[in-house]
Amino acid sequence: MTEDVLYTSDLHGSESHYRQTLEWARRVGARAILLGGDLAPHGSIDEQATFYTSFFLPLFRSYFEENGAADVWWIMGNDDWAANVPLLERAGLGRLRHAHGRVCAFLDGWSLAGSAFVPASPFALKDWERWEDGLGPSTRRDGFRSSAQGGSLPFSFVGRERSEAIAAEFATIGRQWPEDPSRVICMFHGPPYGTALDQLHGNVHVGSRETRRFLEERRPPLSLHGHIHESPHVSGRFSDRVNETVCVNPGQDPRQPLKAVTFRMSDPAGTLRHTVMGTAP
Ligand SMILES: [Fe+2]
Repeated sequence: MTEDVLYTSDLHGSESHYRQTLEWARRVGARAILLGGDLAPHGSIDEQATFYTSFFLPLFRSYFEENGAADVWWIMGNDDWAANVPLLERAGLGRLRHAHGRVCAFLDGWSLAGSAFVPASPFALKDWERWEDGLGPSTRRDGFRSSAQGGSLPFSFVGRERSEAIAAEFATIGRQWPEDPSRVICMFHGPPYGTALDQLHGNVHVGSRETRRFLEERRPPLSLHGHIHESPHVSGRFSDRVNETVCVNPGQDPRQPLKAVTFRMSDPAGTLRHTVMGTAP
């Protein structure tokens, strides 16, 4: 079995799930591993830094020494402190590539557009949260952001809804959009609103309207997401469509085997296979 890409998300520091990720990549002969955010265990800036230096970086350092190891593209997620981005970017691992906020060169002439941003959530860590209209009543406006100097500072969206708009972040990505839109894959932590990928128990949709709008406008063939771990379980599906864009959220549960998808670059949206759920309907 040869698949070109293995995508997974929301590993939240699970050492077992990281090892399973590399195991799957070896098994399918992947040339690329994509990590869609929420990399580290829930914890303080220092605790997450310790996870990166004691587990994450050594794991990939030794993996890259293997014959046929895949290249890795990553973004953080809303549960990861952004203050630790430099630690990963400056680790000296050239094959561990940060994809947030950019459109990167990817396999076989394709491009990869990455964004860690999600709409404001009920959680306190606000580094990767931005504002969009229509958010539900459980949205928490106040919380904390990490600073480049270290430590975290109180942060509030109140009165800053416009300057903190998630739409501006998508516009930044849109400005880097390649000439050939038929060969772009998106990796955005937050799923688009109103799909099989953004559902909490009780069928409540908590995805991003602006992410959906961006996909409707830009129409990439494939868009990879995470963030709402339970959605594939609730909806029974790990993929859905926004216009012609096939969108994916593999889901994740630390008590269960790794949830990931693999695909081939010859037809990314048409060759999706889930490690637990099988092929897309
Ligand atoms: Fe998340």
